[in-house]
Amino acid sequence: MMKKLEKTVNYIKDKIDFIPEIAIILGSGLGNLADYIENKTEISYELIPNFPETTVVGHDGKLIFGELNNRKIVAMKGRFHYYEGNDMSEVIYPIRVFKLLGIQNLIVTNAAGGVNTDFVPGDLMLITDHLSFFCENPLRGENLDQLGPRFPDMSVAYDKKLRDIAIASARNLGIDLKSGIYCYCKGPSFEAPAEIRALRALGADAVGMSTVPETITARHMGMRVLGISCITNMAAGILEQPLNHEEVIETGKQVSQKFSTLVSDITKNWE
Ligand code: HPA
Repeated sequence: MMKKLEKTVNYIKDKIDFIPEIAIILGSGLGNLADYIENKTEISYELIPNFPETTVVGHDGKLIFGELNNRKIVAMKGRFHYYEGNDMSEVIYPIRVFKLLGIQNLIVTNAAGGVNTDFVPGDLMLITDHLSFFCENPLRGENLDQLGPRFPDMSVAYDKKLRDIAIASARNLGIDLKSGIYCYCKGPSFEAPAEIRALRALGADAVGMSTVPETITARHMGMRVLGISCITNMAAGILEQPLNHEEVIETGKQVSQKFSTLVSDITKNWE
């Protein structure tokens, strides 16, 4: 695995002339943040040795290196989901590459269903913690001791200082940023209403099919993580209407501007 990673990292290093401070994973429909990036160098996933391939509509498949508010960043347009049939090792592969490139910070974003009935579609939610006990842990198997410990701590998976910066940014921009607990479900079917009621009882505020494996992997390697969900729909059983992916993409697009403004401002105030 380390050899494989090294090959990927060396390929990318050859294409760029700086090491980003922050890696940003763009969730479904939230890709327009890429338009804010300046001095871009784009690398398609298919060109990167050992990188997995994306299959979902609304996920493009490239790394975009550049500057956001004068801060060096890389955005990942299109992520690898478990439900696509990827192994967990593929889902988390880019995160390990980021860390080995020397990147210390990760912003994870996603489209999520609102479990908290105070939320409405279009809300942004700062992730304070997560639930994922029904899902495979991405660190299962042999531990790569060079990368991190066998039993990594998840007490504060989402960095407190970065959360405070996000809250301050939202306040300055007049954005009503909610906060809450993100529950990871495997998908690809949306959850059943009974599952959503159960998740609410367990403390979940939002539900989605990504983010937690990436966060666990980043924390394993000592990266700082900030997570933001875009509530694209109310979770199953809350409204009397079926759920569909088009709604997820459509709301993501509508919120894209607000989301991009917020993330861009957060990178400006990053410390
Ligand atoms: N459930 C799971 N994942 C999601 C949802 C949802 O309701 N909306 C967007 N991603």
